[in-house]
Amino acid sequence: MKLVAATGNKDKLLEFSRILSPLGIDVMSPEDVGITNFDVPETGDTFAENAAIKAQEMFRLSGLPSFADDSGLCIDALNGRPGVYSARYLDGFPQEKKNLAILKELENITHENRNARFICNIYCILSSVDTIITEGICEGKIANAPSGDGGFGYDPIFLYGGKSFASLNSAEKDQASHRGTALRKLVEKLKEFLGENR
Ligand code: IMP
Repeated sequence: MKLVAATGNKDKLLEFSRILSPLGIDVMSPEDVGITNFDVPETGDTFAENAAIKAQEMFRLSGLPSFADDSGLCIDALNGRPGVYSARYLDGFPQEKKNLAILKELENITHENRNARFICNIYCILSSVDTIITEGICEGKIANAPSGDGGFGYDPIFLYGGKSFASLNSAEKDQASHRGTALRKLVEKLKEFLGENR
């Protein structure tokens, strides 16, 4: 089965293909279906709303089964920030600066109080009446300093089992990550849907 990914984020596209291809889903990028510069204003207040907005726009433009991921990092000591605004935190600054700014915000916070989680919501549109929504959450802590050179975004400052996401190999990250969990749930629900509609 083919699904169009409603994202211009190359790092997310890479993870989508890495996780979904072995499970029998071909991920197409916006460019694969002739859509360039896909960018939709994320005007929702929740991950679920923003995922729906992006998937609906891609389904409208492509007319093909489409899905979107909206995700972010929620830090308890910052009352859930940056949350849905993770991509727009210190907008315009390089990711390295964003990571250092988060660490600065947490400089007086002890390890016990540095709990955080990555959240991913997937909204998948199969037809004008069939949608699948899933969520994945990965619990961890914010590190004291960035480490590792894999992954993207906030991976260097997010600790999972004592190691930063950026220090894990891709299989380890996918097994643990919010995105891996949400996408595997999507595949399960797709199987149910296709079984029922055979
Ligand atoms: P959005 O879903 O397009 O709003 O962007 C989500 C933002 O959250 C990304 O730009 C990253 O900054 C961050 N993010 C989401 N997932 C991950 C991840 O797996 N690792 C690191 N950062 C992530």
